[in-house]
Amino acid sequence: MKSAYIHIPFCDNICSYCDFCKIKYNKEWTAEYLNSLENEIKTFYKGEKIRTLYIGGGTPSMLSVDELNRLFEIVNLLNLSALEEFTIECNIESLTNEKLILFKKNNVNRLSIGIQTFNEKYLKMLNRSHAKEEVFEKINMAKMIGFENINVDLMYALPSSSLSELAVDLDNFLKLNVTHISCYSLMIEPHTKFYINKIKPIDEDLDYEMYKYIEKRLTNRDYIHYEISNYAKAGYESKHNLVYWNNDYYYGFGLSASGYLENYRYDNTRNFNKYISHNFVDNITKVTFEDKLKYELILGFRKIRGINKKEFKEKFNMSIYEVNNINDLLHKNMLKEDENYIYISEEWIYKSNEILVKLV
Ligand SMILES: C[S@@+](CC[C@H](N)C(=O)[O-])C[C@H]1O[C@@H](n2cnc3c(N)ncnc32)[C@H](O)[C@@H]1O
Ligand code: SF4
Repeated sequence: MKSAYIHIPFCDNICSYCDFCKIKYNKEWTAEYLNSLENEIKTFYKGEKIRTLYIGGGTPSMLSVDELNRLFEIVNLLNLSALEEFTIECNIESLTNEKLILFKKNNVNRLSIGIQTFNEKYLKMLNRSHAKEEVFEKINMAKMIGFENINVDLMYALPSSSLSELAVDLDNFLKLNVTHISCYSLMIEPHTKFYINKIKPIDEDLDYEMYKYIEKRLTNRDYIHYEISNYAKAGYESKHNLVYWNNDYYYGFGLSASGYLENYRYDNTRNFNKYISHNFVDNITKVTFEDKLKYELILGFRKIRGINKKEFKEKFNMSIYEVNNINDLLHKNMLKEDENYIYISEEWIYKSNEILVKLV
């Protein structure tokens, strides 16, 4: 049993902050891209049952209905007989009744929708264009069609934003009444419009205040904080993303996708021309025992529940207490433990990088 990620790089407009592998939509390129994707899957996929599937981007939902039909034809090359979770990334503007019905017909059972904010001033700054009413209308449409598992992305720490503006945004996010909310602090990434325009990140203390504020508001409304940036209603934690955080195996198909299969990790090319010339893989790295351990700690401690001690022992044939500095970090209360798990303490989770440096 495996998981699979498929990357669709097309977007109809490019956001000021985005460093994802994306390109402006073009009909001819999309057709060529989908042909290459089919070829890649036919070449590398070994036929295992796929338990979780995630189509991300870019903005997969902005493809036309014909292109989406072609995409699902390709997806059906995978063995989906044991599929538990099938997510597709969407933006509000491109969601239509017809596309949602098509998703449903093709066994998509989770939508992940980029909203970021409802605040018009910031939407403009981010170069995004949905209206508040449209967000409610499209999410209700999705629910009516039968999607009960919906994630929305929220971005905070927007340039010169305040806690009171975030409070209004959160009121709206909560009103959507969805099962999952991902909350990302804005990162000013090189090569983005924000970076080029020398936009300043907000003060670090305010960023932390916003992080804690979001946590308080969402947990008060029965969202479980289960990963640094992710909140879900009970039972709606993302099964696919947990594959990453549990350091389990997955295929990555498409431009810039990464994969982790038995004993090796690989990254696909980010070069569109190479990809459509069927030169898919950029690098392959053999994963040693030490690498596997390093990933287990870096990814595993992103989960608020932390790392399961028994599962760790079974996976690595050693006790987690043998990991460098674990006992010291426990002693300093930077890590905590209960009967089954070791986890980063609440005060340190926001600064978890400082702990990870000591561990790996
Ligand atoms: C691939 S996009 C989501 C789908 C769709 N393309 C959209 O934007 O609506 C993934 C999410 O990553 C987050 N993101 C992207 N760039 C970011 C950045 N520089 N800092 C923080 N979050 C970012 C946004 O919340 C975005 O919705
Ligand atoms: S945030 Fe989403 S819509 Fe905006 S450029 Fe990035 S991938 Fe495209």
